[in-house]
Amino acid sequence: MSSYDVIVIGAGPGGYVSAIRCAQLGLKTAIVEGRETLGGTCLNVGCIPSKAMLHATEMLHEAEHNFAEMGLKGKAPSVDWKQMLTYKDNVVGQNTGGIEFLMKKNKITWIKGWASIPAAGQVKVGDDVHEAKHIIVASGSEPASLKGVEVDEKTVVTSTGALELGKIPKSLVVIGAGVIGLELGSVYARLGADVTVIEFLDTITPGMDADVVRAFKRTLEKQGLKFIMGAAVQGTEIKNNKATVTYKLRKDDSEHTLQADTVLVATGRKPFTKGLGLEELGVAISERGQIKTDDHYRTNVAGIYAIGDAIDGPMLAHKAEDEGMAVAEGIAGQHPHVNYNVIPGVIYTHPEVGTVGKTEDALKAEGRAIKVGKFSFMGNARAKANFMGDGFVKIIADKETDRILGAAIIGPMAGDLIHEICVAMEFGAAAEDLARTCHAHPTYSEAVREAALACGNGAIHA
Ligand code: NAI
Repeated sequence: MSSYDVIVIGAGPGGYVSAIRCAQLGLKTAIVEGRETLGGTCLNVGCIPSKAMLHATEMLHEAEHNFAEMGLKGKAPSVDWKQMLTYKDNVVGQNTGGIEFLMKKNKITWIKGWASIPAAGQVKVGDDVHEAKHIIVASGSEPASLKGVEVDEKTVVTSTGALELGKIPKSLVVIGAGVIGLELGSVYARLGADVTVIEFLDTITPGMDADVVRAFKRTLEKQGLKFIMGAAVQGTEIKNNKATVTYKLRKDDSEHTLQADTVLVATGRKPFTKGLGLEELGVAISERGQIKTDDHYRTNVAGIYAIGDAIDGPMLAHKAEDEGMAVAEGIAGQHPHVNYNVIPGVIYTHPEVGTVGKTEDALKAEGRAIKVGKFSFMGNARAKANFMGDGFVKIIADKETDRILGAAIIGPMAGDLIHEICVAMEFGAAAEDLARTCHAHPTYSEAVREAALACGNGAIHA
């Protein structure tokens, strides 16, 4: 029996980051992972491979649509699907290999296999039982199932199957207009598939301001995505490698069907805690299957902690990473803090969407006195030169104090630009602080400054 200060269960972004921080703080650490490679859903079948596919298809789109105008002549590239998948797999391999290197560098033992917790202080993997003073559960999440929809990962797929289809589908139905559906839907639209998104609600990406959603939906429609809104999927049927999707329109209860080569089910994820033995141990789990924790990520059973997708909050890799660092620092006797008001959300479509803090709609519903500064990328020279004039930056600030309360960016590099506002918010900045910060010309970031200026005396290039 080997014994450790900390055993982390799950080597996704939450778990491996937590293990590194534990090791850095002098704790003897092991990590348990049952997959062949480290990195969890994010690196193996989520964030990283999907970003490779997004990048490759964005390049294709650029060549097909904008090269000629820039005087770049020649035949548009054709798609070698097998090679595109190889490129994606290579990107994954480099990243998962990198995590393995980091484990070795930090002297963290990788215990290979699936863990269970027979008792507090013990982690069982295969026939071996390991001892640990502290156990951090970072077991992540899995796709939520949908009634009547049977996933075979060939014709009806989750995001995992969508990243390794045998061929590019001619038609794709996406169930759910959330992050996964729109990112992967736009990948296949750029590859020539006829993409229809079926969404239960009347809005895509619920939780964002109406003006952002409107602009976002418009850019997706321009890229060829079709939307059926307010429709509840009843089920799917697979016949001769084709799927039929049945859905009901909520407005009149009428039933319809749609045929497609491939159906992507992207209706959310749920915590993955199967086989850990948490119920038997008496660890409190919420109705939604999330492990209940206090502010220090402690469960109700002493010595067992939980972080990331398996607990409450947005299912985001970076949220899990921050919690992973915080739980490690707490175990080491420090006093860490995760600021949940400043966790950015990014949708990696083209253009990207980045959000942080509260929305205008939510603040108005709270009755807060606010002001909104908005600036269109059409007024940004760099964006126009790069065919990226669609979209805008929106900053929401307190009307009296000018303190930044939230922001949304739809436009070029929005996922990177949003962090300027995150840092400003972390430091409790006013919009004027951003507005008075010199921004290099010509950069996309000038649009952020202009939106901050619009919160005060007005943007210059509007
Ligand atoms: P999601 O929660 O973002 O969106 C699911 C959508 O499906 C919602 O709009 C919902 O109304 C709709 N829906 C639910 N049931 C339906 C039905 N029966 N018929 C039609 N529509 C239905 O979930 P998604 O996209 O699957 O992502 C899962 C998780 O992964 C999310 O928490 C997301 O934050 C995370 N993720 C984050 C990414 C990012 O940060 N860029 C990328 C991919 C995933």
